[in-house]
Amino acid sequence: MTDSLKSHWEGRYSDNADSALSWTESDPFISREWVTNSTSPDQHIVDIGAGRSKLLGQLLDAGFTQLTHVELTEAASNDMRATLGEKSALVNWYVGDAKCWRTDLPVQVWHDRAVFHFLTKPNDRKAYIAAVDVNLAANGTVIIATFHLTGPQKCSGLPVQQYDAQALLETFNSLSQWDWRLDDELVHQHLTPGGNSQIFQYAKLTRL
Ligand SMILES: C[S@@+](CC[C@H](N)C(=O)[O-])C[C@H]1O[C@@H](n2cnc3c(N)ncnc32)[C@H](O)[C@@H]1O
Repeated sequence: MTDSLKSHWEGRYSDNADSALSWTESDPFISREWVTNSTSPDQHIVDIGAGRSKLLGQLLDAGFTQLTHVELTEAASNDMRATLGEKSALVNWYVGDAKCWRTDLPVQVWHDRAVFHFLTKPNDRKAYIAAVDVNLAANGTVIIATFHLTGPQKCSGLPVQQYDAQALLETFNSLSQWDWRLDDELVHQHLTPGGNSQIFQYAKLTRL
């Protein structure tokens, strides 16, 4: 992770309200439904590159008790703590590169919306999946959303790798030390706050 990439993301959050950030969802309903349908509230859920997403707050309200916010930027992490107020004490916080994050509490659901697709170099994808491998529980689930093959080629001004569900499965199966099964997939049109369409690919991968 270069300093300039971190500065890019810090600036995006410091300089912009959510209404000016293309990835903002007023309600992350797909993520929330997939997470809640994949596990029980006492299990450890991590939101990777969580930014200022409403997902963790909604999971807290739904009774989830083991939540971790992993995010590169101080800006978004501090904003989220302020938004959650007293409830922020119920969340684990890691500010840094998701590829470097390690936890002693096995992760049951690893959720990533619009982070993995920024890893355009094979070594970065390898390091990310190595972090999944060491942190995820034996029967754990990865819920991942990237730009689809028909989606934009850039996100936040940065180039992305586009995927369909099969390509996500193949990427995990080729780089992980574990085997993976595709349990669900969805192609979804996200409307940015500015009204532009972005086609996302969601995939639910289970570690075998
Ligand atoms: C497009 S935004 C998506 C934010 C959030 N997942 C959502 O759906 O609203 C990408 C997020 O990933 C964070 N990010 C980028 N690279 C990261 C990395 N290597 N480790 C942790 N977070 C990262 C950025 O700071 C930003 O918050």
